[in-house]
Amino acid sequence: MRPKLVVGNWKMNGSRAGNATLVAGLLAGLDGANASCAVCVPAPYLPQCEQLLAGTPVAWGAQDVSQHASGAYTGEVSAAMLADFSCRYVIVGHSERRAYHGESSELVAHKAKAALEAGLTPIVCVGETLDQREAGQTASVVGSQLAAVLELLDDAQVEKIVVAYEPVWAIGTGRNATPEMAQEVHAQLRMQLKERSVQAGASVAILYGGSMKPDNAKELMAQPDIDGGLVGGAALKAADFLAILHAA
Ligand code: G3P
Repeated sequence: MRPKLVVGNWKMNGSRAGNATLVAGLLAGLDGANASCAVCVPAPYLPQCEQLLAGTPVAWGAQDVSQHASGAYTGEVSAAMLADFSCRYVIVGHSERRAYHGESSELVAHKAKAALEAGLTPIVCVGETLDQREAGQTASVVGSQLAAVLELLDDAQVEKIVVAYEPVWAIGTGRNATPEMAQEVHAQLRMQLKERSVQAGASVAILYGGSMKPDNAKELMAQPDIDGGLVGGAALKAADFLAILHAA
């Protein structure tokens, strides 16, 4: 049985004062949680995370990373810079970046590789749009998104990634995939990982994201191939994020 992991994706939200309150609330309620926990925050708040979370059970990370190691890439942040602030995780290929910034699966693969080479754990996001689901393309879409990453990484690297299935139509909508719908896709992703590396198929965590809330988290994470959650809106309220963490 894989350990559960619950990651909060704050997206472009937060303030120094609000972050301090949210983190204090989170730290106060961790006792008894059976899952590992992390928060992925806007880059300017990484120093604050390092200051508030170092030495606690809560890891932290970023929401994107450059595929480049360094150089003339204005505005980008390298994996080594994230490692400078003791990040453990970095989200790559979130659907909002694929949509708003035209990120291809090949670019996402290079971002994941750059993260791994700096010692970070990439959380590789895959997911279909509503149109793609209604067209019966879910399996092929998420399969090709993951395949691009698996093609670029060696076996040892594949075994270190985390995958997040986030149906685009469930993100921010309050309409989560049913546990059965999510499990079906997670099982396909697990099989794809196993075909690449038996070890990866056994050990790589596959998180669900898309309107995971306190009232649906337990049933979702009870599914055999759902190893935790990638949580957006509910991560911005300590009580809700803790409820999800304790539901794992
Ligand atoms: O990365 C997690 C995020 O996309 C899910 O957002 O608000 O539906 O939990 P939300």
